[in-house]
Amino acid sequence: MMIYVPKEDSFLLQRNLKFYVRNKIFLDVGTGSGIQSIEAKKCEAKSILALDINEEAIKDLKKQEINTVKSNLFSNIKKEEKFDVIAFNPPYLPRDKREDKESRKITTGGKRGDEIIVKFLKQAKDHLKKEGVILLVLSSLTPRGNIDSLLKKQRMSFKVIDEEKLFFEKIQLLEIKT
Ligand SMILES: C[S@@+](CC[C@H](N)C(=O)[O-])C[C@H]1O[C@@H](n2cnc3c(N)ncnc32)[C@H](O)[C@@H]1O
Repeated sequence: MMIYVPKEDSFLLQRNLKFYVRNKIFLDVGTGSGIQSIEAKKCEAKSILALDINEEAIKDLKKQEINTVKSNLFSNIKKEEKFDVIAFNPPYLPRDKREDKESRKITTGGKRGDEIIVKFLKQAKDHLKKEGVILLVLSSLTPRGNIDSLLKKQRMSFKVIDEEKLFFEKIQLLEIKT
C-alpha cells in the first residue's frame, strides 16, 4: 500500500501543531509518512503515538524511533488510554470512480466522503482527556451534515483555526473540544 506524500492538507495541520503539543500526550491518527509525529517531536510533546492502518507506514516510522501501532482507527488502542491532543488528517474525499484503487485508500473517506471521519469522532471522544483537543482536517468537498450533528450529539464544540483555499476546494483545520 502506498504511503501518502505530504500535501497542503498535511502542512495545514503541521504548521498548527506547535500551538498544541508542547508537553502533551499526543496521538497521530493516520500517520502516513509520520509528518505530524516528527513535528510533534520537534515541538517537545511529552509522548507520541502514531497509528495507521497501513503496515508499511508503521514499519518506516519505527526506524525513526517513533512509537507506532498498526490500528484501524482506535481498534488497537487500549480502552483506558487517553490523550491530550488527537490529530487526524483523514481520507476526506467522496469516492471518485476514476481514481485508482491504491490512492483511493488514502484519500477517500467512503462513498459520501465523511464515513471514516464519523467513525473516528465516535471513537475519539472516549480517548480524549477532559481538557483534550481533537485537531481534524476537513475539505469543502466533505459533506458536513453528519459530522456537525454527531458533534452536537456528543456535546462537542468546534472552531476553524486555520484554512487554505486550493484550486478546487477549501481545506480547514478544526479544533474540537468537549
Ligand atoms: C491523507 S493521509 C494523511 C497522512 C499524514 N498524517 C499527513 O498528514 O500527511 C490519511 C492517512 O490515514 C490512514 N488511514 C486511512 N484509514 C485509516 C483507518 N481506518 N485507520 C487508521 N489509519 C487510516 C491512511 O493510511 C493514510 O496514511
